[in-house]
Amino acid sequence: MSAPVITVDGPSGSGKGSLCQMLANSLGWHLLDSGALYRIVGLAAVKKDVSFTDEGALAELAAELDVEFKAGESGEPAAVFLDGEDISRQIRHEDSGTYASRVAVYNAVRDALKVLQRSFARAPGLIADGRDMGTVIFPDAQLKIYLTASAQERADRRYKQLINKGHNVNLAALLEDIKARDERDMNREVAPLKPASDAIIIDSTSMAIDDVFNQVIADFKKSS
Ligand code: DC
Repeated sequence: MSAPVITVDGPSGSGKGSLCQMLANSLGWHLLDSGALYRIVGLAAVKKDVSFTDEGALAELAAELDVEFKAGESGEPAAVFLDGEDISRQIRHEDSGTYASRVAVYNAVRDALKVLQRSFARAPGLIADGRDMGTVIFPDAQLKIYLTASAQERADRRYKQLINKGHNVNLAALLEDIKARDERDMNREVAPLKPASDAIIIDSTSMAIDDVFNQVIADFKKSS
């Protein structure tokens, strides 16, 4: 029997990363941060001077990835290793999110990452974080969550996170960036961001992350 999977999809900044980390820690399950895979492909493209319009070369990069995730302490994102090198900080940069969103529009890139993503489903279970986890990668998942929040709220959260880390950021620019990413992720032809027909939709605009977590755990118990 294949390992159980909980999928968590939604737009950037909706709190998916924190929620997935909490779920993985609390259930003792594996974690797939699929956005990190697209970020790595985007970063690799910049490093190797591969054009964002060269679908074939980008797909080759995606097919050759040697990645590993290590769950972080509670509240911290998972550490990501590429060819054994810890690239966790580089891929979290705002630019890497934009690169990721640009390479993610290509069918060949998405196909190249499919088998790798499915290989993360191992006992005792998997928490899968992304945009198409419930719709394309794990359509038979035991529980599907679609986590969203208003663009303004997502920009505010990101702003606070970055300010707390000592970065100098502009809220209006962050909001524009989030809107542009939503537009690209939701309107692309291949695997656009949308809730699976059997997903539970949670709007976290005025919810604390602990309340989101408790609701998902309650939904998980019901689905077991
Ligand atoms: O979740 P994130 O912000 O790390 O994702 C970065 C980008 O990668 C996102 O804007 C779109 C793309 N992505 C995707 O197309 N499909 C996924 N399953 C995960 C991310």
